[in-house]
Formats: sequence, C-alpha cells, structure tokens
Amino acid sequence: MLSTILNNVLNCFEYYRGVAYLWDKEKENLVCHGTGGLSEESEKIIRTKPLNVNRHDCIEIRAAQSSTYTYIEDPTNGPNLTKIDLKISHQHGGRGSLLFVPLRSKGETFGILGVERYPTQVESYPGQFEITEKNIRSLMLFVNHASIAIENARLYAQNARKINYLVRLQEIYRELNVIMDMDQLTEDILDYALSLSQASSGAIWCCDPGTRRAHLRLLRGYPSSQRTDIRLSLDQHPFKEVCHEQRLALIPELTKCAYSLPVSPLKGSTILIPITYEDQTAAILQLDHRDSSIFDETATEVLKIYASQVGKLIENVKLYKRLLSERRFIDNVMNSAGVGILITDAKGKILSINPKIEEIFVTKSSEVIGKPADVIFSGDQRAIFHIIRETMRKKKDTEKEVNFVQKEDELILKVNSFVVFDGDKRFSGVATLIQDVTETKRLSESLRRMEKMAAIGTMAAGVAHELRNPLSGIFTTIQTLTKELACTGEQKLEMDAVLEEVDRMETLIQEILRFSKPLPLTISKGDINAVLKKCVAALQDKIKAKRIRVLCEAQDETAYLRADMDKIHQVFLNLLVNAIEASEEGGTVEIHSRSIPFSNNGRPKGIEIQVTDHGVGIPPDNLSKIFDPFFTTKNYGTGLGLTICAKIIEEHNGEIIVKSENGRGSVFTIRLRK
Ligand SMILES: Nc1ncnc2c1ncn2[C@@H]1O[C@H](COP(=O)(O)OP(=O)(O)OP(=O)(O)O)[C@@H](O)[C@H]1O
Ligand SMILES: [Mg+2]
Repeated sequence: MLSTILNNVLNCFEYYRGVAYLWDKEKENLVCHGTGGLSEESEKIIRTKPLNVNRHDCIEIRAAQSSTYTYIEDPTNGPNLTKIDLKISHQHGGRGSLLFVPLRSKGETFGILGVERYPTQVESYPGQFEITEKNIRSLMLFVNHASIAIENARLYAQNARKINYLVRLQEIYRELNVIMDMDQLTEDILDYALSLSQASSGAIWCCDPGTRRAHLRLLRGYPSSQRTDIRLSLDQHPFKEVCHEQRLALIPELTKCAYSLPVSPLKGSTILIPITYEDQTAAILQLDHRDSSIFDETATEVLKIYASQVGKLIENVKLYKRLLSERRFIDNVMNSAGVGILITDAKGKILSINPKIEEIFVTKSSEVIGKPADVIFSGDQRAIFHIIRETMRKKKDTEKEVNFVQKEDELILKVNSFVVFDGDKRFSGVATLIQDVTETKRLSESLRRMEKMAAIGTMAAGVAHELRNPLSGIFTTIQTLTKELACTGEQKLEMDAVLEEVDRMETLIQEILRFSKPLPLTISKGDINAVLKKCVAALQDKIKAKRIRVLCEAQDETAYLRADMDKIHQVFLNLLVNAIEASEEGGTVEIHSRSIPFSNNGRPKGIEIQVTDHGVGIPPDNLSKIFDPFFTTKNYGTGLGLTICAKIIEEHNGEIIVKSENGRGSVFTIRLRK
C-alpha cells in the first residue's frame, strides 16, 4: 500500500524518487515499507537496513522526530549534515533536494515519507523542479490525508491475526450457544479449543472445590493406552494456581519441567486455562503442542477469552437444565393433580391448563393457550370466568361454588382463584384451582340425611313405643264404651270416627317403627322391568282416578340385578305415587330404564331408571329438604316416602338424584349396580 501511495506522489507531484518508513516504536527503528524510483541496489540497502533512533543520526531520524516537514536543499553540502547523512548520500550515488513529511495519527508520528529532486533537474529545467513552499504544502496536505489510510492499514496488518481469531471465536460461540447437553458441550469445547489453538492434544479436567480434587473428564489426541481414571489434587502445582488463582499456566518445555503432569505428551509445551463458572473454577482446559511458540501472546489472550465465553455457556446449560427440571416438576404436579389448575397472566390470557381442566371442560390445551380465559368458559361456565375476573379486578383471592352441566351430569365445582405476584410484588396473574366436589357434596348430604334420620328414627321409635300402649288403651276403652253405652246414631258415628283416627295413628306408628328399625336386606336376582310393571299395576286405581298416562320404556326387555326386590318395589311405588300426586289430571308419567357403565371399567354394569312427571315441580328451596324425614308439602303426607327411598338406595350402594323445575315437572334418577 505504501509503495502505491509513494508512486502516486512521485507521479502527481513530479519527484524523482522516494521512500516510506514506518516507525517500530518497540525496537526504536525506522523500517522501510515502500519505495519508488530507486535503483535495485539502493532498494536492497534501504529495505534490509532499518535506521535506529539511537545509532543513526541522519536526516531520516531527525525528520521522524520532528513533528513537521524537513526540507534539505543540498544533502551533500550543509552545516547540519552528519557523517551518516553523507554516507547514505554516497550509498545512493548522491542525492538531490530532499523533502520529508511525517505520517501522523492522533498527534503521534508513526512514520515518514521522503521524496527527492535532483539539482541537475533544476539545471535542465530552471525553476521547474524547485521544491517550493506551495509544493511542500501540497505534499503535506496529501500525506495528512493518506496518513489515515496508512495508519488503518498498519493497524489492520498488526491485528489481522487477532481479528481472525476473534471472528473465529464469534463463530464458535454461536455454534456452542445452541448446545444444551452438557456432555456434548464438553466435547465440543475441547474440540474447538484444539482447532482454535492448533494444539495437537488436550484434555478437560473437572474441578470439585469441595474435595479440592479434579478428575479427567475428556481426552483428545492421546493414544488409547493413556489412563483416563485420573484424579489429582488441586493443591498441587501448577493446577493449584490455575484453579485457586484462576491464572493461566504455560509450561513452555515439558522436558525441562521440574514436575510431571498427570497427562502430558513426551515433549513440547502445555498450557492450562481455567474455565470459571459462578466465580469458581469449574474446569481446567489443557492444550499441548510440540512447539511452544504457538501459545504466543495473541493465542493465550484469545484462549483466555474463549475460556471465559465457555464458562458462560456452561452456566447457561446448567441454568437451562435447572429450569427444565423445575419446569418438569411443575408439569408433573399439574399433570398428576386431582384438581383442575388454570393459570392466567395479568391480562387474563391463559398461560397453562392441566389435564383435569381439559377433562372437566372438554377442551385441549393447544386450543386455548394464549387466548383469553373466557374461551374455555362459555354458557353456564361463565360463572368461573367471572370469578377469575373478580380476582383480577380486586386483587383478592376468591372462593366460590359453581353448578354446571357436563354431558347431562350436573356438577358442583369448587373454584379457588389466587392472585399471583412477582418478586417485585407486582400483580402477574391468577392461579385458579377447580375441584369437582359433586361426589363429596352428595356424600356429605346423604351422611347428613342419615344422621338426621338416625336421630329422628331413635326419637320417633321412642315416642311411637310410648304412644302405642296408651293408643291401644284408648282403642279398647272406646270400643267398650260404645258397647256399654249402646251408642247409636250421631254418637255411634263420632265413636267410629275416633276409632278410625286411632287406627290411622296406629298405622303411622307401625310405619315409624318400620323405618327406624329396618329389616336387613334380602338379596335375590330379579328383573327390574318386571318390578316396574308390578308397581304400575298396583297403582291402577290412582292412575285411573286422575286419568294419568303412564309411558314405560325399557332399553332391554329384561334387566336383571341382584337386590332386595321387595324394597326396590317399595322405592318405585313411592316415586310413582309422588309423580302421580304431582301431576295434573290427564298428565303423563314416564318410566325409562337402561343399562349404564356404572363401574369404571367401561362395561355396562348398572341400571338406570328414571321416573319423570310433568307436574308441579319442586321449588329450588325445597330441593335439599325433600329427602329429610317428615318433610312434606301435602296435607296427609307423612314425609317419609322419599326418606325411605333414599335409605333403601343407599343400602344398595346406588344413587338417587333429582332434577326438578318449579311448575314444569321432576325427574328422579335411580342408579343401581347389577
Ligand atoms: N314428583 C314430585 N313432584 C313434586 N314434588 C314432589 C315429588 N316427589 C316428592 N315431592 C315433594 O317432596 C315431599 C316429600 O315427599 P315424600 O314422598 O317424602 O313425602 P310425601 O309424599 O309428602 O308423603 P308420603 O310420606 O306419604 O310419601 C313432598 O311432600 C313433595 O313436596
Ligand atoms: Mg310420597
């Protein structure tokens, strides 16, 4: 580059010949890096003999040391010329007028450019070849501009190797950055270190600060006979310095080394570089080569940068692994939780849902993630969305119970929404737990009923027992009195009415006693459809009296099950009586029976019977009370019908469920195991 610039100067400004020197400040030399118009001999001398600041007192050195131009009209004759100047003139067969201009950058001279014109030229063309003030200024201006380009080129040449290394480092970093597997990363770290440094062999030692020992993790370029199960103390030189002081150790000549390395080539040099992770030495990278000069200043500097980058990558992989295992743990919790878990962000968008939510709301996480929470909760499930919205708005945990229908089943869901804050106490979302409490509710309801029944049963049995004797006393006394007083007419009718009432009370007492001390179940195999038909037949009088249409629909002609058939008969009798009593004149009562997968192995294992009427229905407030003993809305009802039904079904491990709409009718569903 310098020669090109110089030749341009000679052509443009009409100089005879020229030379360009760069200043090697370390060696204090002016070194020729470009010539123009020189004879072969002169060029050889100039190129091979640098001018030393301390030894050569010549025009070139003086010009380089001055910060401005130097012009010597006659370098063979003058007061300031030294012996060396004259010697140089002589070497080049005499010299013409000389002009040296400094090459400067950031206020410092880094070289000089010299041009020459022969006085003979001046003689041949008088006035034309004189170096005028204007010539000097023009050259100065040109050189000032050229200096920038020269300086850049000089710096580039000086750092080209380092730049190449850094570019390669960047590439390697990019390639290693995507590796998330620690074993793979370790192998690649060593392989790239070998290719980067051109080392012939190498190893990676893993350090354990707890035991203060390192073990050999990986080897490259060693014969297969090399032992690999090596552990060494980290308190031993030179590993000690590398590990504890995190210093790089270069052993330039292994043959002259006073100590032996646990893994080492026979001769050559070895470098040990610490790889740090969280300020501790996690590993030591060992690289070996026959020639120690490959680990020069630039190479070691680059290897240091490489090791620090690698430390960061190890940190990343460890972090990634930790995050992954935390994530897996959270996923496992989410997957195995028996409750539905739904996480929404601060804006109400779904971040994650677990399989239980997918099951309850019949949805797929892939379809809802990232969407607003109301996509899951439509229709009557919207109540859940409102709970989440309320939690978000009030930033307060919320707990509520929600009823909703899933595939014809009415479920009771307990919804708990929790506000989630981040580390800076900023609201970051809502976690909602949704628990299906239908079964628990049903069980506790039936438990409550049973307890109530037991208490009332005991009390009723006591009262009934106490009433029984006086009642039979009253009955016989009235009978005797009627006879003795020979009652007739009005009196006889009144006496008979009293006896009838006493009789009705006697029947009620019998009923109460039967209810409080039930007979044990007598299990036999029977056809439920036949039982239903018998019940309808037994109620013909009532059915006809109210002109009720009874529709019987059975999925199968016969449906056998093992149960106490008399008690089951009693259940349907009660339900049908209730249905008829609730119906309007001319109304319809339906009875449906079908097989159902009552057990969880999927095979039809149970029977479901539904008794439906389109009558008065049950007001919502009464729904929870209808199975209570003595709850009745009828004038002559005992309120024991449904209590007995529920008790019998429970004794059979079955289910009794009611759905009713006030004014529109009711459906009683019984599920029994086969
Ligand atoms: N199919 C129905 N439609 C509307 N209400 C009903 C129906 N079945 C039961 N009920 C309500 O439940 C109450 C309790 O019924 P339950 O059969 O236990 O007693 P009851 O019918 O009143 O008297 P009994 O002891 O004579 O049966 C009834 O009084 C009625 O209010
Ligand atoms: Mg009844």
